[in-house]
Amino acid sequence: MQAAELDFARFGALSVVEAQARIHDARARLGKRAVLLCHHYQRADVYRHADLTGDSLRLARLAAQTDAEFIVFCGVHFMAEVADILSRPEQTAILPDLAAGCSMADMANLAKVERCWRELAAVLGTSPDEKITPVTYINSAADLKAFCGEHGGIVCTSTNAPKIVDWALARREKVLFFPDQHLGRWTGFKKGIALEHMAVWDPDLENGGLSPEEIGKARILLWKGHCSVHQMFQVEHIRRWRAQYPDGLVISHPECNLDVCRESDYVGSTEYIRDTITDAPTNTRWLVGTELNLVNRLAELMKPQGKTVQFMAPMVCMCSTMQRIDTQHLAWTLENLAAGQVVNPIRVPPDEAEPARAALARMLEIS
Ligand code: 13P
Ligand code: SF4
Repeated sequence: MQAAELDFARFGALSVVEAQARIHDARARLGKRAVLLCHHYQRADVYRHADLTGDSLRLARLAAQTDAEFIVFCGVHFMAEVADILSRPEQTAILPDLAAGCSMADMANLAKVERCWRELAAVLGTSPDEKITPVTYINSAADLKAFCGEHGGIVCTSTNAPKIVDWALARREKVLFFPDQHLGRWTGFKKGIALEHMAVWDPDLENGGLSPEEIGKARILLWKGHCSVHQMFQVEHIRRWRAQYPDGLVISHPECNLDVCRESDYVGSTEYIRDTITDAPTNTRWLVGTELNLVNRLAELMKPQGKTVQFMAPMVCMCSTMQRIDTQHLAWTLENLAAGQVVNPIRVPPDEAEPARAALARMLEIS
């Protein structure tokens, strides 16, 4: 007989200390049946419980490799979907708070991408499948990954975007890159593609707001989406800081705008940012353009080596959706699992999972 679900109302009022104790207790009861995967942006009081941590690419690989019955994902919704798609049928991916979405992922949806594909067919006078490779950033819903799988396309992450775009352009003359225009633009820029050959597709306008000539000239069509956290970082922040610390080093995530990326000494994924600063010589000074939880963690970790790590923006920029996975939701999830009740499972329907898996498998093979 299945146990009754423990009501979240009994957990919401727990103090962090109480919730931590209950997480420890539930984990001891679950043992190896549950594995906790945490993204680098996860808040510190949850991150400390992680079995495994990483950027999106690493977490996707880890989800495919784990043997645990329950994959408890402390990240956002699309990451738990990837875990479900890549894990075995007898495993369950769980997101402790279903409201932990990604605002950038929500900037593209299947209806809009299908409309875009139809409009491109009309402008090009042929099926876009002959001319355009759809590339979705992993920060997207499973049905968009499935769309890519069905149209000879692929998934990318911030780590492997350059390789994936090479692959895509070697197959067809153009790329439709969604939903993050900034990652797409930076990737194209690094490949030497001129800005006038990268056109922004606004999904709320007919033909993306582009003329047939602009579409014809474009090698990369950049979906008009962005991350609200990373758009807070501005090139003026870097210039002011460099004036004060001319020997300082700047590192940014490729979701930042092109000017910020161009002015940075290093650009890469969250894992790359962490590894680059960790491996840097002692007594170096860093300005970092990515989410605050990761920057705060790095600042603490680097202190003993005399490295200074500073956040790029003067205002607080956190991933407010990932932040929703707090100790109370984690305690609630784990106690339910220990009591035999699965809460918040993420299950991608098989007709979406299969083509999405194909697009993810292509990515994993290439990277
Ligand atoms: P990473 O793959 O670099 O961890 O990026 C994920 C993300 O959502 C950044 O905002
Ligand atoms: Fe999405 Fe931005 Fe949060 Fe990353 S930081 S998960 S892109 S909202």
